[in-house]
Amino acid sequence: MEHFSRPHNYGKIKNPDGVGKVGNLVCGDVMWLYIKVGKNKAGKEIIKDIKFETFGCVAAIATSSAITDLAKEKTLEEAIAIDKQEIVQSLGGLPPIKLHCSVLAADALAEAIFDYYAKQNRAIPKELEEKHHRIKKEKDIVEEKYKDWTQKEEEIHNQ
Ligand code: FES
Repeated sequence: MEHFSRPHNYGKIKNPDGVGKVGNLVCGDVMWLYIKVGKNKAGKEIIKDIKFETFGCVAAIATSSAITDLAKEKTLEEAIAIDKQEIVQSLGGLPPIKLHCSVLAADALAEAIFDYYAKQNRAIPKELEEKHHRIKKEKDIVEEKYKDWTQKEEEIHNQ
């Protein structure tokens, strides 16, 4: 219930290492997710900090809040592997009509990690590359289909 009533890690990160922006094909809602990458004791890259902002419903906010808790301190490989079932389970389930809301958080995290690798000109894992192409295609459709709404979201977000 905590994630619904008092979402964790809402907001922006200054100078993030990676940013993921995704749109929901079903409703046109949009989310931004920011990550800071650090290293653990074994020298592996981990999600050191993570925050999100969304123009989405309460289920989108709760799933985003849950993914920030699930991803923090995880290695990048572990974070990429978090899927929407795991997020929904961590919330104790969602009504079927709200299941589409849970894809935003997992996709936004994948995009933020993709952005991190791309900015550093690093090799991108095949699974992440494939996710990125699917997510980008969907975002382009959302931006075209819900043009007026997504432009307004962008304006508000940049204020
Ligand atoms: S109705 Fe749009 S994210 Fe839930």
